[in-house]
Amino acid sequence: MPRFDVTIAGELNLDLILHGLPSELPPERELLADRMMLTLGSSSAIVAHNLSALGSRVGFISRIGDDPLGQIALDRLAAGGVDVSKVRKLGGDTKSGLTVILQGDRYRHIITYAGTIFDLTFEDLDLGYLADSRHFHFSSFYLQRGLRSRVVELFQRIKAAGLTISLDPNDDPDDLWQGELMKVFPYVDVFLPNAREARKITGTENLETAMAHLAKLVPLVVVKVGAEGAIAQRGLECFASPALKVNAVDAVGAGDSFDAGLLSQYLRGSDLPTCLAVGNVAGALSTTRAGGTEAFRDAGYRQQFFRANGVEV
Ligand SMILES: Nc1ncnc2c1ncn2[C@@H]1O[C@H](COP(=O)(O)OP(=O)(O)OP(=O)(O)O)[C@@H](O)[C@H]1O
Ligand SMILES: [Mg+2]
Repeated sequence: MPRFDVTIAGELNLDLILHGLPSELPPERELLADRMMLTLGSSSAIVAHNLSALGSRVGFISRIGDDPLGQIALDRLAAGGVDVSKVRKLGGDTKSGLTVILQGDRYRHIITYAGTIFDLTFEDLDLGYLADSRHFHFSSFYLQRGLRSRVVELFQRIKAAGLTISLDPNDDPDDLWQGELMKVFPYVDVFLPNAREARKITGTENLETAMAHLAKLVPLVVVKVGAEGAIAQRGLECFASPALKVNAVDAVGAGDSFDAGLLSQYLRGSDLPTCLAVGNVAGALSTTRAGGTEAFRDAGYRQQFFRANGVEV
């Protein structure tokens, strides 16, 4: 029996979220936010934290800076029950990454200082540790600049050890959508983009066409469509699952929480409609509190939310 249910190699940093700003941000003005939240951020770490909250045994590899923000992020992940024994602090000038989210009334601005996010390399990975698991998840493909050129090799090694693999590309800050992604698809079991990412990666405006294209490359493609829920395609079979109706505070980390909900069921062998439904419950739960993990780390609140929506976790 492997040590972990899921292993993840990726970024670990905080999100600083400012609420109540206007959508248009005029320069040279003193703009007032009415609420702030400093919370665990980064797609990889949010998936890890929330999978652990949902009962999976999770192992995590990352690099952070030797600074207070990195330490807070690390403490949060450890408090969530994730094994962080393979997270290393890098000395030197590079600080841990930080994402600042300016939440406007209609749009948000997302600004990331990558810091040590770009420093994680293939040589940093303990492949024996990552492979001692049933499943491997990889997030933020385009942010993993130090690792990206060897993700094919990483996935080959992980697959050879018998794990299944999921991939959430997240946004490409360069908006190029090129590189190695096409080469990694042969090793991916579950591909988890949002609707915009699915269209960008396939170079089409039409989401159905994008899904059909991706479904030829991976066994299962699941696309997150925000307040509309999620759609999926497996071969020629199409599925749709509506979002829950909730009072959303923000959607920061909702996609990562969806990934955690879906994967927790995928690993239990649940059928696809159940995987999608639990993904939507997890995504909705995330939106009810600021950031991607605040609603998950409150165990009583989390359990009550899942139970109220028909899921025993
Ligand atoms: N307003 C909302 N109401 C209910 N559920 C929501 C809402 N917004 C998002 N969700 C849930 O969260 C999931 C993920 O949302 P979204 O489409 O924003 O992902 P994403 O863009 O990948 O997010 P992220 O910013 O974390 O990368 C949705 O599929 C849905 O289940
Ligand atoms: Mg996402």
